[in-house]
Amino acid sequence: MKKIAVYPGSFDPVTNGHIDIIKRSISLFEKLIIAVNANPNPAKPYLFSAEERVEMIRKALPSSPKIEVESFKGLLVHYARKKGANFIIRGLRALSDFEYEFQMYLMNKKLNPDLEMIYFMTSQQYSHLSSSVIKEIAKLGGSTINFVPPVVEKKLLEKFGY
Ligand code: PNS
Repeated sequence: MKKIAVYPGSFDPVTNGHIDIIKRSISLFEKLIIAVNANPNPAKPYLFSAEERVEMIRKALPSSPKIEVESFKGLLVHYARKKGANFIIRGLRALSDFEYEFQMYLMNKKLNPDLEMIYFMTSQQYSHLSSSVIKEIAKLGGSTINFVPPVVEKKLLEKFGY
């Protein structure tokens, strides 16, 4: 069976922490699908459209036949099945991520027991990064150059008009 993994997330926007997880996980799989959540999230509206988020990830990564980037709607387990994926990748930064990730793990396992979820511990230099913090820094006029790929920094500058 081909080893295909899905790395799902909001990626609003993608950070150097996400890119690190992608680069570390790619060698473990024959194919890695980066799946941008396009389900509406009224509690936390996205800054970037799903198309923009996909485009930023594509531009931030070296092109590789092993990597696919696209958006998805609906349940993650259904999307993974449609893509023939048997693994889900997630990153963990701190203990505070654990509860949310554990709940998601248990629920996804109930929905599809055949799907295995694999967790990558953050590299230390990215443990402080989150898309929310990046957006706040950019909104308030701070530089995000050390935290996100150049294409994302440019988009943030455009978005907030600096
Ligand atoms: O980057 P995020 O916001 O932590 O990613 C969360 C994401 C997109 C992985 C999660 O919300 C998700 O899988 N959404 C798709 C809908 C779904 O399957 N919900 C049930 C999860 S148990």
